[in-house]
Amino acid sequence: MSETSTTPVRLTRKPERRTPPGPATGTVPGSGKTACIRTFGCQMNVHDSDRMRRMILDAGYAEVTRYEDADLVILNTCYVRENAVDRVRGHLGELIRLRREGRLKKVALTGCIGAAEESETLRRQFGIDLVLGTHNTYELAEFVGLPTMEETYTPELPGTEGEHSAFVTITTGCNYGCSYCVVPMVRGRMVCRSKESILSEVDRLVEGGTGYVTLLGQTVDAWRRDGERFCDLLEAVAERAPRVSFTTSHPSNMEDRTLWAIGSRDTIVKRLHLPVQSGSDRMLKIMHRGYKAERYRRKIGVFRDAAPEGTLSTDIIVGHPGETEEDHEATLGLVEDCSFDSAYVFKFSPRDGTEAATLGEPVAPEVSQRRFVEVLRGIEGNAFKRNSRKVGSVEELYVRHGANEDGRAIGETWTGHAVHLKTEANPGEYVRATIESAGPHALYGSLCGSPYGDLAPYGDV
Ligand code: 5AD
Ligand code: SF4
Repeated sequence: MSETSTTPVRLTRKPERRTPPGPATGTVPGSGKTACIRTFGCQMNVHDSDRMRRMILDAGYAEVTRYEDADLVILNTCYVRENAVDRVRGHLGELIRLRREGRLKKVALTGCIGAAEESETLRRQFGIDLVLGTHNTYELAEFVGLPTMEETYTPELPGTEGEHSAFVTITTGCNYGCSYCVVPMVRGRMVCRSKESILSEVDRLVEGGTGYVTLLGQTVDAWRRDGERFCDLLEAVAERAPRVSFTTSHPSNMEDRTLWAIGSRDTIVKRLHLPVQSGSDRMLKIMHRGYKAERYRRKIGVFRDAAPEGTLSTDIIVGHPGETEEDHEATLGLVEDCSFDSAYVFKFSPRDGTEAATLGEPVAPEVSQRRFVEVLRGIEGNAFKRNSRKVGSVEELYVRHGANEDGRAIGETWTGHAVHLKTEANPGEYVRATIESAGPHALYGSLCGSPYGDLAPYGDV
């Protein structure tokens, strides 16, 4: 799935340094404990961090953003590429220094590195106090002084109830065995959550004021339960929530009717993230992806017909063992044909325990680097062209991130484009804006009329 930045996850509440949370959280008044959660990697981790955040707040910790203000630091980690581990090592080094200076008490390592064997080495090397994998995150509850919470803190637990936008996990784990990927090892086989449980969470969220629901899983479109498939679930969610999106998908599971549903349902954001990884059939086979490039192109054709203005993104790996110049050219060809709106391009990184780590024919780093740049240039060229077509249009935007110090907020169109604009509107509100200019990664707009634009109430627009 797509990777988010490694900056601290958005806080569910303002950091109050050394201030215990109020009685509303049902906590331990006056404890004065503080915790900092740092999230690396994908949206699954962002969601897991939200769940851990509820635990620490329930246990009477106030959340802070800086390590030096924290009694407890939780590093919720990613294991997908080697540099992710290197980054975490860097953070651990800093934490250990702070602990030696007496400015920090405890360090917990959670997430995908926690589930990998390497965590034992890190635990010993850095004296980590608690190591948790992705399946036993609930054990954090006991560590922070809450009663054992296996029952309460299961994957069923809502992440950010009451927030303007929330992730809802519909699948955990993955049943594929892509040559390069550690996910099946650290997150296990796919488990599909029941429709009933998902819909009741969605209902609760919507009642609590959540305006945007993102269905989450490694391969959400593989969701199946009691004779129903992902499209049935998506349609049911789209009837309940005012705005719906999902990530991430696998091309082998993506049904045409899901693509048509994206295009036709008013409440579904017209965005598709469909990782292709390579445009070469030979590489797709070596990677065990289970489809050919032509089938992928056909799916994209359906998506473009269903949602012509929609946004399409993908993941591409360059430099997988055995990738030849011809394979790379095939990827560049696919990039041109699909004209992606954005992409996450990765240089292959060998992960212990994966098949690709044992394959011969490594690609030289300088070759990987050149291929990386070539793919990126292809993506950006097309994205810029497609974004430029939006200039001059008037769009209804959902404010995802409120204004920063420069007054710049980020909104999202119904077609899934990110728009930077100046507005005082809060996250979760809708505004109307004119698109003034475009870059390869975003659009830039200005508000129509008042901070709330001339928008009719939601549902009337
Ligand atoms: N090397 C490089 N990229 C990888 N990805 C997963 N594993 C690796 C690896 N070993 C990329 C894939 C996946 C995304 C989340 O990360 O493109 O879709
Ligand atoms: Fe990894 Fe492949 Fe599963 Fe995606 S589909 S999580 S790349 S094994």
